[in-house]
Amino acid sequence: MNRPAVVAHRGNSSVAPQNTLAAFEAAWRAGVECVELDVRLTADGVVVVIHDDTVDATTSGSGAVAGMDLAAVRSLDAGSWFAPAFAGQRVPTFDEVVAFLETRPGIELLVELKGAWTVEQARSVTDPLRSAGLTERVVGQSFWPQSVAALGAADPSLRRGLLVMESGADLPDRCAALGVETCNPVGTLLLEDPGLVDRLHDAGLRTTVWTLNEPAHWEAAVRLGVDGIITDRPDRLAGWLDGV
Ligand code: G3P
Ligand code: CA
Repeated sequence: MNRPAVVAHRGNSSVAPQNTLAAFEAAWRAGVECVELDVRLTADGVVVVIHDDTVDATTSGSGAVAGMDLAAVRSLDAGSWFAPAFAGQRVPTFDEVVAFLETRPGIELLVELKGAWTVEQARSVTDPLRSAGLTERVVGQSFWPQSVAALGAADPSLRRGLLVMESGADLPDRCAALGVETCNPVGTLLLEDPGLVDRLHDAGLRTTVWTLNEPAHWEAAVRLGVDGIITDRPDRLAGWLDGV
């Protein structure tokens, strides 16, 4: 068996609040190869780690991330919604993520840009990584081709990925045009189109599937030869792979 990388979705989000330093730490302790996280820009242009376009679901506050400055976002509690033990967790800044990566050798990051980013905005992700000498331990990905292209323009040496929910015949060409090294499909797409992984590999692309949380789905993905599996249960997936 070709063992796929275990990618912790929003950190180890089954045991800690998603997209917080606590979730990233839990993923690190679980021994994963990679941590996936989502980034957005605040109103004052700072990169923060949060999935939704509002803070409502995962913090003590309400409102659009893009409409709040950093101080307002940082004043919120991003842990209590998950469990009282995580009270005081904050929405991380990307600088905190860079510091996390610096002190956790071996682990990689899969950074998902939410929405359409400009090249200048993408530099607020690529520049801190380059300054810290960490670019090679990161893949930047997005559903938005514009954001993938912006990452490539900001730093051509950053590995990049395109997230997809459909697999048209032109997918390898679209990936080639964007210069991505990985094409990451939703899990249901693999079941609908079992030849997809081979087609992507034949085109010289890697593929990491999301978000699979059950052994039956892990087994199907492994059988198809994926390079990575994004999961909310990284510790269980790692144990399951040990037993395969
Ligand atoms: O990394 C892929 C996956 O995270 C995309 O979906 O909604 O969880 O960001 P979402
Ligand atoms: Ca994501």
